[in-house]
Amino acid sequence: GCHIWRIGAYASAIARASGWTFDMASELKLSAAMHDTGKIGIPDSVLKKPGKLDTKEWDIMKTHTTIGYDILSKNDTAFFHLSAEIALRHHEKWNGSGYPNGLKGENIPESARIVAICDVFDALTMKRSYKPAWSVEDSFAEIEKTIGTHFDPEIAECFMRIKPEIIEIKESWEK
Ligand SMILES: [Fe+2]
Ligand SMILES: [Fe+2]
Repeated sequence: GCHIWRIGAYASAIARASGWTFDMASELKLSAAMHDTGKIGIPDSVLKKPGKLDTKEWDIMKTHTTIGYDILSKNDTAFFHLSAEIALRHHEKWNGSGYPNGLKGENIPESARIVAICDVFDALTMKRSYKPAWSVEDSFAEIEKTIGTHFDPEIAECFMRIKPEIIEIKESWEK
């Protein structure tokens, strides 16, 4: 649904706050929206399973990163380059415990470090079949807990600093 466009809007706001140019942030807005492109390659039995995924299904789910990369990297323009890098790296974590490769810290592209926060924030604040929508306050608090483990501290700091703008974006998609 609107998930992909909200992620794009959040991502470009954070990028601007962390010093990206307007043009780069605008490019990120569209690229970030394509982060889960690889999910088109995941079977519905896994993607739409109502309950918890078992280990095997979870391994299949994780391949949406490499599938997305394979699709998006076929095009050799700057835009698809950025999109492919985000698709591949948006589930990596700052402390190296993410997937697909367990990259650590600044080895994870900055674009993907930004999108990682947006993706989690959006998942928390939106209603899911297995959980209600969390409040903005609770969602910010949750993200704050994993700064330095899941999230890049500097980017998380930018995210915290532009909270009013993040709320504005969230509300603009609820109209
Ligand atoms: Fe994803
Ligand atoms: Fe996502």
